[in-house]
Amino acid sequence: MIYGERIRFRHMERSDLPRFVDYLNDPDVNWGLAVYLPLSMAAEEQWFENMLKRPAAEQPLAIEVHEENPQGGEETWTLIGNCALLDIDWRNRSAELGILIGEKDLWGRGFGSEAMRLLVKHAFETLNLHRVWLRVYETNPRAIRAYEKAGFVMEGRQRQAAIKNGNYIDVLVMSLLREEYSAVKE
Ligand SMILES: CC(C)(COP(=O)(O)OP(=O)(O)OC[C@H]1O[C@@H](n2cnc3c(N)ncnc32)[C@H](O)[C@@H]1OP(=O)(O)O)[C@@H](O)C(=O)NCCC(=O)NCCS
Repeated sequence: MIYGERIRFRHMERSDLPRFVDYLNDPDVNWGLAVYLPLSMAAEEQWFENMLKRPAAEQPLAIEVHEENPQGGEETWTLIGNCALLDIDWRNRSAELGILIGEKDLWGRGFGSEAMRLLVKHAFETLNLHRVWLRVYETNPRAIRAYEKAGFVMEGRQRQAAIKNGNYIDVLVMSLLREEYSAVKE
């Protein structure tokens, strides 16, 4: 487990897959993602099997949020999404990041930026990377703001690089360097 303040990361389990099929088939969720076709449970299971063959550091992490139990007793953790380091380039110590919070009711409560901060901490302090970067659609201001809050800076714009709902949109590239992370983490 990797613990943050209100969230934690654990490895994804096969039993999580139905939730992710629901998330990824929800148009409110997937319009910010590269997903554009309905997703079946069978395809998701195949994705999971292939994912297990990838290097351990690149396997997605499930994001869980801690829920207070008013009666006390055992603490409960609820799945809200996942995040990952994709295609780690070990020579240049650089990796692309991705995140999905599928529980729409929880958007705007800081979990996305907290998850990014925790993933970045893992990337720099555990995996010893030098640079992390991501791609985000220009039409996704919520994500852009969450990334800015986690310290990411705008690096470039791939003009009309994606088509969404019949319109070409720009894909923005944002990144965070290790030295910038060290300056903002306090
Ligand atoms: C993108 C995502 C990870 C953000 O997570 P989140 O928990 O909602 O993010 P946070 O609450 O940490 O931050 C969101 C910020 O965006 C702001 N925001 C929301 N809607 C906005 C808008 N239309 N314009 C500008 N800012 C907006 C919020 O006010 C908040 O900023 P604040 O804390 O300064 O007020 C989540 O919404 C998600 O997974 N969406 C679906 C999949 C997706 O788009 N993934 C990203 C692919 S690049």
